[in-house]
Amino acid sequence: MPVAGPKPPELAGRDVILNEAAIALQRVIHGRHDRSQILLGLRGTGKTVLLNAIETLAQAHGHITSFIEAPETGRLADQLYPKVHQALRKLSGFEAAKAAAYSGLRALRGFAGAFKIKIGDVAISVDPEPGVADSGNLEFDLVDLFQAVGRAAQAAGSGWSLFIDELQYLDEPELAALIVAIHRSNQTNLPILLFGAGPPQIAALSGNAKSYAERLFSFPPIGALDDASARAAIRQPIQEEGEDIEDVALAAIVRVTHGFPYFLQEWGYQAWNAAASSPIAEGDVAMASVNALKRLDEGFFRVRLDRLTPKERDYVVAMARLGSGPYRSADVADALGESVQSLGPRRASIISKGMIYSPAHGDIAFTVPMFDDFLRRTFS
Ligand SMILES: Nc1ncnc2c1ncn2[C@@H]1O[C@H](COP(=O)(O)OP(=O)(O)O)[C@@H](O)[C@H]1O
Ligand SMILES: [Mg+2]
Repeated sequence: MPVAGPKPPELAGRDVILNEAAIALQRVIHGRHDRSQILLGLRGTGKTVLLNAIETLAQAHGHITSFIEAPETGRLADQLYPKVHQALRKLSGFEAAKAAAYSGLRALRGFAGAFKIKIGDVAISVDPEPGVADSGNLEFDLVDLFQAVGRAAQAAGSGWSLFIDELQYLDEPELAALIVAIHRSNQTNLPILLFGAGPPQIAALSGNAKSYAERLFSFPPIGALDDASARAAIRQPIQEEGEDIEDVALAAIVRVTHGFPYFLQEWGYQAWNAAASSPIAEGDVAMASVNALKRLDEGFFRVRLDRLTPKERDYVVAMARLGSGPYRSADVADALGESVQSLGPRRASIISKGMIYSPAHGDIAFTVPMFDDFLRRTFS
């Protein structure tokens, strides 16, 4: 299943995170504290499928859920509006929550007015409640709005979990407002959890938001699967079809993919197609590797490279030639025969395109696993 989003045939190696989420979801419904989670990982490591799996869990545990993919351009408020509306409508279906959900809709109406949200088809027929969620200051208003939704969820004996994928596309004030709103919900014991996902650099928040975030959230790193999980991710689906794969073949797949979920799916897909008979053998994997690399080089990797200008491309190729990352910016500058300062804007521009990030001061790394290999293959 080399496709972003839908559940892979075997969601391998994420039991600890799923268990933690299941516990948190149940605890908040019972009025106990627990931490929201922000999944941090590179492209293709399985954050979106994990968020989807947690959403399914949340619903199974009686939560009302809202799922947003933060847009590369656009405002959080616009995205939230129809989702919160839908959540409140669902909550209003609980007899015990009718009044609270109605108050929630009034707060949402004020919010929509304050942020001049184009309400389109999702109009609200109630009057706003003056002074609630209508200041135009996102931090204040999101607190009010979350309080209102949280009280409705509480009255319903339910919970509200909010899922936000691609958190890096929120701007700082939006992220900060979100964190403060979750902080207030925690303090007032409301059954709200946030599950977010984004690349590792979003952990580097500043100011108040940072000190809250450290206490409020766990930041599970989502990375390559360990050996046993990587094997399971390939072998389980094959065996479910009544077929098998040789151990050496399986080992070869895990070796070339380094256990990265997206690459595992790509190799699994190609190996299955390459094999004329079962069990899938080492030779099938060799053929799969040719096809898989070709597809990745022409697709997954290529589309990312194409976002760079020629100068930016020189920069990332210089990185790759230094071996596997992270890299010192100073070493990249040396390799290009330029100063770190003069390369600053170029580096910043590549960061803003989401190709590289700074895992620590003065360091730089690729946001896509095995991108360095790709660049060395392509620009040798
Ligand atoms: N735990 C896992 N086990 C097996 N395959 C996985 C796992 N997590 C993700 N995948 C697969 O990896 C690919 C990338 O997943 P996705 O959630 O889109 O990554 P991300 O959101 O981190 O970029 C998909 O093809 C998905 O099916
Ligand atoms: Mg994703």
